[in-house]
Amino acid sequence: MQTRLYSFLGGRTGPWRVSATRVVSGDPLPPAERVEVIQGEARAGTEAAWILRGVTSHERYVTRPERARLVEHQPALGRLEATHAAFIPIRKSPAWWSLAQDERRTVFEARSAHIATGLRYLPAVARRLHHCRDLAPSEPFDFLTWFEFAPADATAFDELLDALRASEEWQFVEREVEVRVVRES
Ligand code: HEM
Repeated sequence: MQTRLYSFLGGRTGPWRVSATRVVSGDPLPPAERVEVIQGEARAGTEAAWILRGVTSHERYVTRPERARLVEHQPALGRLEATHAAFIPIRKSPAWWSLAQDERRTVFEARSAHIATGLRYLPAVARRLHHCRDLAPSEPFDFLTWFEFAPADATAFDELLDALRASEEWQFVEREVEVRVVRES
């Protein structure tokens, strides 16, 4: 059976070399030289500075017209030219989780334009969103986000990060670490 679980391992091995790590808010992650992305669980006994797990899931906020635009423009992961990537685990605050679904959608899109902004960066950026919150009460992050792009689009990706972090949605982000990686094999 195809699993929806993905494990991100930070350590000494893996095809992605860490080029920069930045703590945007909250606690850092232990340092890692390389990142490996595994579908499923890491093997028992795997040595790593950190192992973070998340599952892909159904969409919570996307409307039908937004989905149509996403499906039309979003590229798949694993493109040969997309040798740069960003792994950004994020935790949102209790204030966010205490909102009702309609209030979250209002902050997320009506007031922060997360989807409208993100759409401007397609098809340059490929992405996959993983949810952690329901795996265990002790998961350190709520979301693991993964983005792949060509080196020529790295500046545009930085611009996207600046736009999202300046939005109202990000006032609810209490922990965020940005791990930038380059594929070497
Ligand atoms: C590349 C352009 C991007 C597009 C097209 C995009 C699109 C989306 C969409 C459609 C959702 C909603 C999924 C749902 O309905 O549940 C979403 C959620 C999310 N995105 Fe993005 N996004 C982009 C970039 C980013 C970036 C750069 C970050 C991190 C810095 C990010 C972090 C998140 C997070 C954490 C969520 C989950 C929010 C929540 O459920 O509270 N996204 N994104």
